[in-house]
Amino acid sequence: MDINAKTKVYGLIGKPVRHSLSPIMHNALFEKYNINAVYLAFEVELGRLRDAIMGAKALGIMGLNVTMPHKVEVTKFLDELSDEAREIGSVNTIANEDGRLVGYNTDGIGARKALERVTEVEGSKVLILGAGGAGRAIAYELSKVAEVVVLNRTLEKAKELEKFGVKGDSLEELPYYIEWADILINATSVGMGEERSIVPKNLLRPSLVVMDIVYKPLLTRLLRDARSMGCVTVDGLWMLVYQGAESFKIWTGVEVDVEFMRRVALEGLRGGR
Ligand code: ATR
Repeated sequence: MDINAKTKVYGLIGKPVRHSLSPIMHNALFEKYNINAVYLAFEVELGRLRDAIMGAKALGIMGLNVTMPHKVEVTKFLDELSDEAREIGSVNTIANEDGRLVGYNTDGIGARKALERVTEVEGSKVLILGAGGAGRAIAYELSKVAEVVVLNRTLEKAKELEKFGVKGDSLEELPYYIEWADILINATSVGMGEERSIVPKNLLRPSLVVMDIVYKPLLTRLLRDARSMGCVTVDGLWMLVYQGAESFKIWTGVEVDVEFMRRVALEGLRGGR
C-alpha cells in the first residue's frame, strides 16, 4: 500500500513503546484488508500527554492505542468515555469519531475472547491474581458472566474492585481460592522476563484452566508448570491479539483474522520483523 495524501494515521502512545508488537500487527492488518492507513509508535512523556492528545486531535489522527504509563491519566483529556472505560478507569483505545476523541478499553474483552478459545467462561468460577490495570479490566468484563474473585498483594486494591460485584481478598489466600476456581488468571507482572511464578506448582491440578497475561516469555514459568500438571493453558499473546483485534474493529469495523494476527505477533516476538 502506497502512502499518499489520503493515508490515515493511527498509533500507539506510551513510554517505552519501542518494543511494542502493536505497530507490526496493525500495519499487517491494514495491508491485508487494503486500508490506506499507517500505525506508528509515539513515545510520549508523562508531562506531555495532554499536548499529545490535543495534537492528535488537531492533526486528525484517527485512532490511538494507549499503554503504560498513560492509560489512567488519558481519561481526563478525552471528549467521551465508553461505559467500560469509565467503570475501569482506564483507556487502551481512542477512536476519533467525527473529530471527537472517544476512549474505550479492550483489555477485558481481549482476555475473555482469549479464554473462550479453550473454555466456557459463562457461569464459571474465575480467580484473578492482580488488581492493577489489567486485573481491573479483566475483573470488570468477566464479572458480567462469571463468578470472580480477585486476589492482590495489596489488599485495598482488591477490595476496591468489589464495586464490580466481585470478591476481593489478599494474595495470601491463594491456596484456599485455587481449590474453588475453574479458571486461574495471572494478571500481575510476575513472570515477565523472569523465571518465576506467582503460583506454587503443587497448588495446580489438571482440571484448572490457566491463563497468563504475560507474553515475554511466551511460555512463562506458570504456564510451563500448568502444562506439566495437565492443565489447559492460554498464553498472554492471545490476549494481546484479541485486544488489538477489538481496537481494530472499533476503528475500521473489520472483524479480523486472529490466526493471521497471531502469526504476525509471533514473528515480531521472535525478532523476525
Ligand atoms: P498492569 O497495568 O500491567 O496491571 P500495574 O497496574 O502496575 O500493571 O499492576 C501490577 C500488578 O502486579 C499489581 O496487582 C501488583 O500488585 P500490588 O497492587 O500489590 O502492587 C502485582 N505485582 C507486581 N509484582 C508483584 C509481586 N512480586 N508479587 C505479587 N504481586 C505483584
